[in-house]
Amino acid sequence: MRTARRMDNLPPYLFAEIDRKKAAKEAEGVDVISLGIGDPDMPTPQRIIDAMARAIANPENHQYPAYAGAKRYRDACAEWMRRRFSVEVDADTEVLALIGSKEGIAHLFPAFIDVGDYTLAPGVGYPVYTTGGVLVGGETYYMPMTEENDWLADFDSTPTEVLARAKMMFISYPNNPTAVAAPVEYFDRAIAFAKKHDLLLVHDNAYSEISFDGYRAPSILERPGAREVAIELFSCSKAYNMTGWRVAFAAGNAQAIKALGTVKSNMDSGIFTAIQDAAIEAMLGPQDDVAEMSALYQQRRDIVLETLASIGLSARPSQGTIYVWARIPEGYTSVEYAGLLLDRAGVIVPPGSAYGPDGEGYIRISLATPDDRLREALQRIADAF
Ligand code: MLT
Repeated sequence: MRTARRMDNLPPYLFAEIDRKKAAKEAEGVDVISLGIGDPDMPTPQRIIDAMARAIANPENHQYPAYAGAKRYRDACAEWMRRRFSVEVDADTEVLALIGSKEGIAHLFPAFIDVGDYTLAPGVGYPVYTTGGVLVGGETYYMPMTEENDWLADFDSTPTEVLARAKMMFISYPNNPTAVAAPVEYFDRAIAFAKKHDLLLVHDNAYSEISFDGYRAPSILERPGAREVAIELFSCSKAYNMTGWRVAFAAGNAQAIKALGTVKSNMDSGIFTAIQDAAIEAMLGPQDDVAEMSALYQQRRDIVLETLASIGLSARPSQGTIYVWARIPEGYTSVEYAGLLLDRAGVIVPPGSAYGPDGEGYIRISLATPDDRLREALQRIADAF
């Protein structure tokens, strides 16, 4: 049997690899604590589970779902955008249901990238922004991202020869993995850049609902001219502790939504409609649980920052997301340092370099870990270093 040549360039998925390392260490008898994947440890709110229980009893929900998402789901997404951001989107042409943002990101590549076309990806970002290109024979240009420029991806320095072959560009704020937010002027510049160079601008807003110290993340679609060039991805995963449910949506530019929908309808058959009904409750029901989750992550962020400072690691207070992005000491690569944390403390963290070239010198710590395990992990790290 011969797999496709593209498989030679497709790495194992970061968190599948981390799961493998964790299992190997556990087989040695080590009690491993994972501060790896951003997978909320708190349960999905009861109001959403109740809605699912009602929805699952409805036989109409047992048939094939609508490809683009149930009309009532798309209407609810539009209503959520209206309530949350005062943005009006057309539920029929500017909203598309996704089986999680990851699925939407991956399927944007066959919709927009031909062999040899470039995608502009953040110098440090969610791995699927680049692996999606590998699957379709596309090229990636990493937009430089540094602590000095506040981790804002620098699209202005993209070489002309790359721009001549570029079709799509990803940004994401509040940012995974660096946990910074972007000023809206940055969005305006990205929109103008995408317009000038005829690019689809994709704003991954998967962390829009988790923010700290009074900050509320905006939608790029609030900005003038955005829907001429941009789509935005929203997800129930982190906002409502629903990672396992796989439910999200894309909103924005109608041409991009249509292209993505055409790819998807050829590849998948949509989201179980009962899950869409539960997501409607998530988005349109009382939002107190969302605020409670941000408060919890903020407390955890502060505990992590305190411990890191006590062992000489520097990290900026994050404005959102469920991560702390910490600079490691000189003399190690991020892979070596993550390896040391596993060997000396039994704690798993992803190395920064796994997120792109500009992640070297950093590690990411997930706050989606129960308080007692998080404290124990931090104690073990403090003891080991
Ligand atoms: C993360 O930890 O970055 C994400 O939750 C992982 C994922 O979506 O696969």
